[in-house]
Amino acid sequence: MTTLTNVSAVRSFDSSAMPTVTMIGGGQLARMTHQAAIALGQRLRVLAERPDDPAAQVTPDVVYGSHGDLTALRKAAVGSHALTFDHEGVPTELLEALIAEGVNVQPPPSALIFAQDKLAMRHKLGELGIPIPAFAEVNSVTDAVAFGDAHGWPFVLKAVRGGYDGRGVWMPADAAETERIVTDQLAHDVSLLAEAKVDLKRELSAMVARSPFGQAAAWPVVETVQRNGQCAVVIAPAPDLPQDRATEASALALRLASELGVTGVMAVELFETHSGELLVNELAMRPHNSGHWGMDGACTGQFEQHLRAVLDYPLGSTRPLAPVTVMANILGAAEAPEMSMDERLHHLAARLPEAKVHLYGKGERVDRKIGHINILGDDLAETREKAERAAHWMSHAIWTDGWDPHHD
Ligand SMILES: Nc1ncnc2c1ncn2[C@@H]1O[C@H](COP(=O)(O)OP(=O)(O)OP(=O)(O)O)[C@@H](O)[C@H]1O
Ligand SMILES: [Mg+2]
Repeated sequence: MTTLTNVSAVRSFDSSAMPTVTMIGGGQLARMTHQAAIALGQRLRVLAERPDDPAAQVTPDVVYGSHGDLTALRKAAVGSHALTFDHEGVPTELLEALIAEGVNVQPPPSALIFAQDKLAMRHKLGELGIPIPAFAEVNSVTDAVAFGDAHGWPFVLKAVRGGYDGRGVWMPADAAETERIVTDQLAHDVSLLAEAKVDLKRELSAMVARSPFGQAAAWPVVETVQRNGQCAVVIAPAPDLPQDRATEASALALRLASELGVTGVMAVELFETHSGELLVNELAMRPHNSGHWGMDGACTGQFEQHLRAVLDYPLGSTRPLAPVTVMANILGAAEAPEMSMDERLHHLAARLPEAKVHLYGKGERVDRKIGHINILGDDLAETREKAERAAHWMSHAIWTDGWDPHHD
């Protein structure tokens, strides 16, 4: 029999005694970080722009405002144990102001700058002797055309800041196309850099986490498959990657995290050349698409690890849970299918019960990342086929193997 004395001896869960983490940005990365925060008994507060932002839909603790507004940032930071990011857009001077007021910003702006500014990153990596493609700053059409003439056509033009999912990347084939792009971008105050186009064999990502204490952990290096300049599929671990090259990639990412003072998770996007060389493409200091596989496929996924890292907890094991995990992005179709998302999910559940589905609560627009599928397996080809078939079904309501849910 429960007595009153026993009841009063039970300590109620005091959520205010658990940490609150503030994440700047209300996108899918914040939404998935919120899932991890729930499991850890923590509170994730987000600074979002609108109530229908993916993270704002699911968290009760939302501050509305812009990441470029110091007042909104201050409001989001009040009482929080660490402030971190779901995107790289917050101006570093605003972060410096927050730090001066006592806010625990992780990663610090001194590191974040190398994920925000592709030119600063290239200069820094050059200084550190880390292999990167040849590059140059572009301030005029003449600069850009000279780069193409020197390094070969087509070459790559990139916005120094703010690009994502291939937006802000161009590959002009000749001087006329270069002139069009450069004139237009410079007129819109977009700073540009030129980079040699790498004859790449494939793209890899080396993902690591590091805490302020200095503990670090690496997940297996993965292969990222891009379509139309954006990530479509991730294979973990990267198939047929020789052990010494995998070790080299992980060591490079760990070294960069330490040299740059990164805290939280960091993805190092890499190009593998036909001769086996690894070149760094870019850095992301936040959860990254190339780490989504680990939500289901690793002992500790990137979202949990990011929280542990920014709060300076010991890090979790990055051990994979299956021989292979394939992640396929659900990308918005050119025209949203007539079948509702819910009905598509219902059919998917019936046909591929092992598919792990992650939907972001986003409207369907062409090529927009609206969710992803993870499949764990033993056989690469079979696992990849299933993941891609599932993701294609969720995007288009069409089974790529011709199966008809209503007639077969
Ligand atoms: N120098 C290069 N040589 C060959 N291909 C390149 C080069 N730079 C970029 N690309 C291709 O364009 C894609 C997008 O480039 P990048 O990663 O720089 O842009 P982003 O839009 O910032 O990326 P993300 O999609 O990661 O947000 C790369 O994944 C790669 O496929
Ligand atoms: Mg990229």
